[in-house]
Amino acid sequence: MATGFNFSPRMHQLKGITSSTRTVRLQQTYGVAPCLSRRFASTSSEPLVKPTKKKNKPLNKYVFRSSLALVLLGGYFYLTDTRSSAHRYVAVPLVRWLYPDAEDAHHTGVIALKELYKLGLHPRERSSPDEDGKLATEVFGYTLSNPIGISGGLDKHADIPDPLFALGPAVVEVGGTTPLPQDGNPKPRVFRIVSQSGMINRYGLNSKGADHMAEVLRQRVRAFASANGFGYHEAAEERVLNGEAGVPPGSLTEGKLLAVQVAKNKVTPETDIAAVTNDYVYCVDRLAPYADIMVVNVSSPNTPGLRGLQAAGPLTEILKGVVGAAKRIDRKTKPFVMVKVSPDEDSEEQVDGICHAVRESGVDGVIVGNTTNRRPRPLPKGFVLPQKEEQTLTETGGYSGPQLFERTVALVSRYKEKLGNGESPKTIFASGGITNGKQAQAVLDAGASVAMMYTAITYGGTGTVTRVKNELREERNI
Ligand SMILES: Cc1cc2nc3c(=O)[nH]c(=O)nc-3n(C[C@H](O)[C@H](O)[C@H](O)COP(=O)(O)O)c2cc1C
Repeated sequence: MATGFNFSPRMHQLKGITSSTRTVRLQQTYGVAPCLSRRFASTSSEPLVKPTKKKNKPLNKYVFRSSLALVLLGGYFYLTDTRSSAHRYVAVPLVRWLYPDAEDAHHTGVIALKELYKLGLHPRERSSPDEDGKLATEVFGYTLSNPIGISGGLDKHADIPDPLFALGPAVVEVGGTTPLPQDGNPKPRVFRIVSQSGMINRYGLNSKGADHMAEVLRQRVRAFASANGFGYHEAAEERVLNGEAGVPPGSLTEGKLLAVQVAKNKVTPETDIAAVTNDYVYCVDRLAPYADIMVVNVSSPNTPGLRGLQAAGPLTEILKGVVGAAKRIDRKTKPFVMVKVSPDEDSEEQVDGICHAVRESGVDGVIVGNTTNRRPRPLPKGFVLPQKEEQTLTETGGYSGPQLFERTVALVSRYKEKLGNGESPKTIFASGGITNGKQAQAVLDAGASVAMMYTAITYGGTGTVTRVKNELREERNI
């Protein structure tokens, strides 16, 4: 029967079935799409199925896939290397643009580092630059791989100590944490002064509490114990903490130390020194097992009355309490204790009072200093701040950034002079405005054992520590 359609012999076999089934069969038989089935039967002179041009498909696929793999691999090596300039010149401006609020940006950075670390995609120092031992330094009887540290506040809840260690510092300070959880001040509470690479913050020691941090650090030790064949139980944890893994119990990494910073709750009245001491001791009892260094924060400008605790009398009592608690913990080696002091309490009388408390209490060292309540002159000299930043300077809070540097060096020298000599010299870490290798060398020359950074990292990104160490090598011609 003439139908206007010409079927091939194979097509005749399809007669008597529904059109949709036929289409499917056509597809299966000839590999054509449904829309082509009409063309399939249009004219008798045309071949039913146009022979497709034979392309060199497998080769193309292979080339494409190999190129993609190479690009991904190259991207992986580039982006996970702290030497990549993309961290400083792409990631930091991008995050700043995406998150106008500095706290949101910081929060995102912490989460990103945490998640990337879990996936093994975090930035890290490749080629183990410290292995040559040229930057090695002695601190508390340990040989640290280098003299660079990350200051308190960058990892407030101990979410990312290991991702931070991977960026190259020998000391990471987590916290400050308080005995009970507290929210800190209302937002917004962190402000950028971009032209100055500076910041003002009034976080007010927002904290998830010492018990929370202790649990986070305990899980970290257990994960380490498990990964290193000790098991994942309490006994395994104890073995690691007692040094059987051959690494410091806090950092869990050779040549590095973990400092844990503690502070009092805002609600604890600063006039009740016994209650204040209890706050610090509570934190030490819970956290000292997981720390190489316990840091007593009496210098945050954002907790009312906290800085007043730096007066010789109260400070001696608090520090004695902390040193006693640190010595009592059930661990073979006890953590060292340091006190972090303010750069603003810098009169001769105040510095003498702090030094007296340090000596009396048996504290091992001092971190000099913290953010400042003052508003330093812009850099370079004579620079006029944009109107908006002038306005930002009026925000309440502690100022941090390069403008602190000169005062940090001067204050380190003074503490070194008063505490660095004699029978039991105290160890000094420097914090405040350190941004490059030259400045790191200057604070080390002034008497510090470790140069710590915070604000420089927020502006310089995850490659900052590596850069500063390289500059330090250049400074030393090594
Ligand atoms: C946003 C922010 C939060 C901070 N939080 C803390 C903190 O919790 N405890 C603390 O002792 N210092 C804290 N600091 C102070 C830094 O640890 C550091 O001592 C100070 O910023 C000076 O160093 P820098 O100029 O390198 O930032 C904080 C600083 C900033 C900018």
